[in-house]
Amino acid sequence: MQKTSDIIWQDTQHQMLFTLIEEIKVVPFDPDILHRLKLYAEHHFILEETYMRMLDYPHAEAHFEAHDRFREELEAMLETDPTMHESLQVSLSDFLYKWLMLHVLGIDKQLEDFVLKSKHK
Ligand SMILES: [Fe+2]
Ligand SMILES: [Fe+2]
Repeated sequence: MQKTSDIIWQDTQHQMLFTLIEEIKVVPFDPDILHRLKLYAEHHFILEETYMRMLDYPHAEAHFEAHDRFREELEAMLETDPTMHESLQVSLSDFLYKWLMLHVLGIDKQLEDFVLKSKHK
């Protein structure tokens, strides 16, 4: 995956999220993968949200809502049958990949710029 951020922790965590999303496609399906993705995404979102609160980030509300939508999508996916059909694995992975790509290259970039200009980079 291309570099997503000049903030090392943010880029490293995005790379890990993309790796986990890719693993959803692996056959046979690992019933634990969505749970691992959920835990890691939560860890990442909480760190970004902590920065937004700490820095009084002006676009925090919209960013929190975007994270919440991802949390909801993952929650719904966790209720799907773990012995999924291969094509369903691909659709779930592709859906999450596109969401994350738009997020890291859009709303996360705004946050990155703000953090880099702050004294807490
Ligand atoms: Fe992010
Ligand atoms: Fe984010």
